[in-house]
Amino acid sequence: MEEISTLEQLNCRAKGGSPGFKVAIVGAAGGIGQPLAMLMKMNPLVSVLHLYDVVNSPGVTADISHMDTSAVVRGFLGQQQLEDALTGMEIVIIPAGVPRKPGMTREDLFNINAGIVKTLCEGIAKCCPNAIVNLISNPVNSTVPIAEEVFKKAGTYDPKRLLGVTMLDVVRANTFVAEVLGLDPREVDVPVVGGHAGVTILPLLSQVKPPCSLTPEETEYLTKRIQDGGTEVVQAKAGAGSATLSMAYAAVKFADACLRGLRGDAGVVECAFVASQVTELPFFATKVRLGRTGAEEVYQLGPLNEYERVGLEKAKKELAVSIKKGISFINK
Ligand code: NAD
Ligand code: LMR
Repeated sequence: MEEISTLEQLNCRAKGGSPGFKVAIVGAAGGIGQPLAMLMKMNPLVSVLHLYDVVNSPGVTADISHMDTSAVVRGFLGQQQLEDALTGMEIVIIPAGVPRKPGMTREDLFNINAGIVKTLCEGIAKCCPNAIVNLISNPVNSTVPIAEEVFKKAGTYDPKRLLGVTMLDVVRANTFVAEVLGLDPREVDVPVVGGHAGVTILPLLSQVKPPCSLTPEETEYLTKRIQDGGTEVVQAKAGAGSATLSMAYAAVKFADACLRGLRGDAGVVECAFVASQVTELPFFATKVRLGRTGAEEVYQLGPLNEYERVGLEKAKKELAVSIKKGISFINK
């Protein structure tokens, strides 16, 4: 049989380092991880893409590495390769952990995902303490406080670099509002604040751009649909998981904003769940300005109407419990 030479035997010319940033995806073989890996391989701001998972990452890596885009892809499998996967990374995106099935809340994922996030953040603190972390694993309202506590214990915590990904709520809000208003969703911008679960997801429909006036019925319909968007997908998938494709799209939209911020672009603003002084809670999602060091500015809520003020009180009540649960998990 004809022997096929390996790349090393062929002594291929080393590729000149392409400009861009080093990005790791942790949980890269999952429902979100795979399309996210594909989309990040297409991003010209990525020079190196590390794909880590506890299963199946070699296959995903082989597949994605054949795409003729410039990012160099490397795969890492299992806990013993976690440190290699993370070393030198500038952005770490975490979609690792179990998803919901019908009848579950995101809170029901806490027992499994809290431990996974803790271990991964310990690795980040050790191997790439300056990386910007995009945390997707649910329940985001608790996993972000878990990450904060792990980084604090390791002495590496920088609030600007820890970002809970709530972009899917904004993506859904833009889509649903555009549908009601008969607009192109790409022209619509809806700030979504609070957190990422049920009533903690608070779309500020009074601040929609372009300015519009919604009836009370439209406001009620849209608020509920945005808050229940995740459940709508979980039910439609009927046991086969939660949002993966729209989430990968949203994760890439958010990671691309982080990359443009790192590059030094001006005026990069997106919503994220971050350490915050906007309310009395230690974490809250609002618009943030992304720059060379992460979330460099956290914006205030702006004027709220009565409907939103009532929603804000409900959101804060539930968020306080979820944040406390995350913090206590590490300090118990
Ligand atoms: P999935 O089960 O399809 O994939 C998860 C992947 O994580 C799997 O490949 C699994 O092997 C991997 N994994 C498990 N433990 C790991 C560990 N210790 N280290 C590395 N990888 C590990 O699930 P999914 O649909 O991709 O969802 C992943 C998570 O994202 C879930 O918690 C889900 O609730 C959450 N999610 C969040 C949002 C959001 O808006 N923030 C949206 C959708 C889903
Ligand atoms: C979503 O909003 O789609 C995710 O948080 C997944 C879920 O469990 O709903």
